[in-house]
Amino acid sequence: MSSQTAPGNGKIKIAPSILSADLWQLGNQVDQVRQAGADWLHIDVMDGHFVPNLSFGPATVKSLKGRAQLPLDVHLMVQEPVKFIEAFAKAGADLLTVHIEAENAKEALLKIKELGVKTGLSIKPDTDPQAVEPFLPLLDLVLVMTVQPGFGGQGFLPGSPAQISTVWQLIHKSGRPVYVEVDGGINAQTAAQAAQAGADVFVAGNAIFAADNPAQALADIRQAAQRAAQI
Ligand code: DX5
Ligand code: ZN
Repeated sequence: MSSQTAPGNGKIKIAPSILSADLWQLGNQVDQVRQAGADWLHIDVMDGHFVPNLSFGPATVKSLKGRAQLPLDVHLMVQEPVKFIEAFAKAGADLLTVHIEAENAKEALLKIKELGVKTGLSIKPDTDPQAVEPFLPLLDLVLVMTVQPGFGGQGFLPGSPAQISTVWQLIHKSGRPVYVEVDGGINAQTAAQAAQAGADVFVAGNAIFAADNPAQALADIRQAAQRAAQI
């Protein structure tokens, strides 16, 4: 799949996920990945209900806004996203992604748009990717989960390339510039598989923040994805 024909803007984007950062060092680690060329910063929000874990809230987004000097890509793994959209928009989210499996996803997307924030819709690994089609006119991004959401450090699920490819085809057919983001178990090897299937935004937590050299890990993911996208 040529990067020229990718549905987003054709450029590979890398979004390190702070779920795997050392919170004692958060500012330094964000500076480090920005200097290494990170495009966006991915912030995972969990409510202990939609997923069996808890993580960050609007206060985290507010602290990072401006100081991170990167667009803030906020992934809401919450059962009732409508309740929280305004707080995250006010805190400075640049992109807000909700899950199609959550309550009132359409209402949440309309609210995100109304607040002038970019919209994302995510599907879990067992969700039929065709389900995103009616939402495409509202979307800037589709996030294909490549692990079961809730925890960092899991392995990329083997069914993921087929999910990504279906989403890519639906977006391509729609003619709209919608990013295909992948999240979960992304490293240089799996980024290549995902890029070949049509992904253009790569979230990586453990592969970057747990690496001995995060800057090198980020560069390796980008290079692998760029090469695979040109095949
Ligand atoms: C998982 C989160 C991911 C997580 C990915 O539910 O949505 O963003 O940080 O972590 P890795 O890259 O370690 O799989
Ligand atoms: Zn995420």
